[in-house]
Amino acid sequence: MLEQARMITANAKRGEAIVLGTTLLLERPRSEVVTARLLATAHGVYEVRIGGTPVSDAVLAPGWTSYQWRLAVQEYDVARFVDDGVAIEVLLGNGWWRGHLGFGGAGIDYGDAIGFVGELKVTYADGSVQVINTTRDWAARRSDTVENDLYDGQRIRARRRLATHPLSVRELEFDRSTLVHAIKPPVIRHEAIRPKKIETTAPGATLVDFGQNLVGWVRLRARGPSGKKIVVRHAEVLEHGALATRPLRGARATDTFVLSGGDDVFEPTMTFHGFRYVEVSGYPSALGADDLEAVVVHSAMDRTGTFRCSSEKVNRLIDNAVWSQRGNFLDVPTDCPQRDERLGWTGDLAVFAPSAAFQFDVSDLLHGWLLDLAEETRHAGYVPYVIPNLFGLPTRRRSFKRIGQAMGPTAVWGDAAVWVPEALWHAYGNRDRLADHYPAMVMHLASVEQRLSESGLWDTGFQFGDWLDPTAPPDKPLSSKADRGVVATACLYRSASFAAAAAAELHRPDDARRWRALADRTRAAFVEHYVDGHRIRSDAPTAYALAIHFGLLDDDVRRSAGDRLAQLVAENGYRVATGFAGTPYVTWALSETDHVDAAYRMLLQEANPSWLYAVTMGATTIWERWDSMLPDGTINPGEMTSFNHYALGAVVDWLYKVVAGINPATPGYERLRLQPVPGPGLTWAHGTLETRHGHVECGWRREGHLIEVTTVVPEGVQADVVLPDGSRTTADEGAHVFRCTVM
Ligand code: BGC
Repeated sequence: MLEQARMITANAKRGEAIVLGTTLLLERPRSEVVTARLLATAHGVYEVRIGGTPVSDAVLAPGWTSYQWRLAVQEYDVARFVDDGVAIEVLLGNGWWRGHLGFGGAGIDYGDAIGFVGELKVTYADGSVQVINTTRDWAARRSDTVENDLYDGQRIRARRRLATHPLSVRELEFDRSTLVHAIKPPVIRHEAIRPKKIETTAPGATLVDFGQNLVGWVRLRARGPSGKKIVVRHAEVLEHGALATRPLRGARATDTFVLSGGDDVFEPTMTFHGFRYVEVSGYPSALGADDLEAVVVHSAMDRTGTFRCSSEKVNRLIDNAVWSQRGNFLDVPTDCPQRDERLGWTGDLAVFAPSAAFQFDVSDLLHGWLLDLAEETRHAGYVPYVIPNLFGLPTRRRSFKRIGQAMGPTAVWGDAAVWVPEALWHAYGNRDRLADHYPAMVMHLASVEQRLSESGLWDTGFQFGDWLDPTAPPDKPLSSKADRGVVATACLYRSASFAAAAAAELHRPDDARRWRALADRTRAAFVEHYVDGHRIRSDAPTAYALAIHFGLLDDDVRRSAGDRLAQLVAENGYRVATGFAGTPYVTWALSETDHVDAAYRMLLQEANPSWLYAVTMGATTIWERWDSMLPDGTINPGEMTSFNHYALGAVVDWLYKVVAGINPATPGYERLRLQPVPGPGLTWAHGTLETRHGHVECGWRREGHLIEVTTVVPEGVQADVVLPDGSRTTADEGAHVFRCTVM
C-alpha cells in the first residue's frame, strides 16, 4: 500500500497548518475514467480537496492510532471530483501527532514534523491506469491557520486565504510497515446547533448558551474591518454566571479568528472542544443567533438503541449517556473531551462498552481500538492505562513518565482487554473478531498471573481500585471503601472466565482449560480469603456488587450477600456509594438477588450522589464525578472535574437488559431473551435495538396488578420470553403482546 508515494511536508512554524498540492492532466479524456481512488494518510491530520471540493466529509483524518505501529490509511472514491485537469490540495495540521498531548504539561509529540502521503489511482475504460503519488515535486504554501492544537484551539487569519506564500517541499522518511487499512469509521460533522441564549456579559463580550454540552467547534460568520480579532472561548458549565474554565486545566480551548475585511466564515476543523457555552469577544457588531452555530463532531456511528420510560428524568439520563458517548467517541473512546487529557483510558471503556454497544453501532470503532490495544500491550508487557499509550512516549515531565514506568497491570483498566471484546461478542457475535481480540486477553491474563500472591489473590501492585468512590476526598480519587484486592481478584475471575469461554468458542481446548483453571483457583482464593461467613472483606457495596454479578459466590452466600448489599444501599438512603468499578454492577447485583425494588429506588434517587442528581442540576451529559457540580452550583474543587465522562453512565446496560428486557440469548442476538423486569416508580419502559439480525423491541406497561409486555422479534429469529410473573414462553418473528398479573 502506498509503495511509491513519498511522505511530504513543508517547512513552517510548528503551530501552522500547511497546504500541499499538485495539479495534473488526465492522460485520457474524463469520459473514459472508470474509477478514481485516493489512498491517503498523514503524520498529523489532513483534509483533501480536489478542484476545491472536499473529497469526503471526514475531518481530523487519519484519526488517532498507535502511530508507532499502526497508521490508518483512508481510501476515498474520488471519481466524481476528477476532471480533465485535476487540482489536489491537502490541508495538513498537527492533530494528535504533534502538540501538547498529555496532562500536567506532558507535551507529548509523536514526531517533530507533520507529513502527508497519498496516491491517486485513475483507471480508464481501456484498462490503463494513471497513478499520481505525493513526491517532492508537489507544491506547498501557507494556510490561513496560523495556530492549531487539539487542546488549545485554532487561530485563523482570513486574509491569508487571499495571499499565496509558497513554501518549499521536502520528503520525510517514515516506516511504511506501520500502514494499515483504516478500520474505524471517519470522524465527521453531525448536526449544527443554534444558540439557545445570547447575552452580553461585559463590554465587547457575549456569552452564548447552546443548551447542550457537546463536542466539536463553533462555525462563525462575520464581516468587519480587516485585521479585527474575534476570540471564542469554550466551557462546559458556568460558575457564578461566567465561563468555568478551571476544569479544562491546561487546555486553552480558545479559537481566534482574524477578519479579512470581507464576508468571512470561520470553522476551526483542526481542533475540537467540549462545551455548552462560548464567550465571544471582539465581534464587530451585535452577535445574533444567525451568526454562529455549534457543529457536533464525532466518529460516524449508527444509532442502534433507544430507551424510554415513564420517568422524564431517567429519559434525560439516557440522553446524557448518548451525548457523552457521542462526545467521547471521537476516533478514540476517551475519558473526556475537553481538558488536557482526552485519552483512551481503558478502565472507562471497560465498564461502559456494553452500554456503548446498545446506544450505537460501535463494532468497527472498538475493533480498531482493540487492535491498538493488542499492539500496545505487546510492547508494554501488560495492558497500558491509556490506548494509544502516551505513557510510553518521551516526555519532559517526570511525573508523567513515572506513570508509564512499569506500574504493571491493573484491574478494570487492564480488564478492558477482555471486557471490551466480551461486550462486542455479545452485541455482534463476530467470531473472527473475537479471534483477533483473543491474543490481548492472553497477554493480560498472563501478565496478571505472574503477579498474583501465593494465596492466588490479585492483591499486589498498583491498583485504581474503585476509582472515584463518592466518599473519597476530591483530591484523593484513589481512596475507596472497597478493598483493592477484592476488586482486582473479582475482576480477574470475570476475565479468566470469559477468556475460557472465548477459547472454547475459538476451538482452543487447552487454553480453555488453562483459563477455567485460573478462574476456579481465583474464585476459591477469593472465597477463602475475602468471604467471612456472609460478609465480604471491606463490607463495601462495590465488593458485594462485583462478587455477586461476576459470579464469585455459591448460592447461599450469594443470597445473603445480596441481602447485605440491599441493607447497605437502604442505610445509605438509596444513594450511590460506588465508584468506577462498582457502579455498573450495583443495580445488576440487586436485581439478581431479588432486590429489584432497591435497584429501582437507587435508579430513581435524586439526592447526591445518584444518577439523577446530575439531571436535577441541569446536566446534559454524564459527569465524571457524582458531584462534579455541587448542590450550590459551584464546581467540585477536585483537580479532575469533567462534565462529560461516560463511565458512570454504565447503568445504561442494565436499563436495556433488565428494565426493558432486551438480552442476547446467543452472541449477536441470533436468538433473543426478552425478560423485562418492572419495578416501583416506573409505570412503563420500552427499549428498541437494531441488531445484526434485525429490529428488536421489548417493553412493558403496568396498570394496577396487570402488566402488559409488548415485543417485536425480527424475521427468522426466535425469542425466549420471561414475563414478570416468572412464566416462560417463546415468540417467533413479529409483534406480540403478553399479559400477566403481579402482586
Ligand atoms: C481519567 C479517568 C481515568 C483515570 C484513571 C483520569 O484522569 O479522566 O477517567 O480512568 O484518570 O486514573
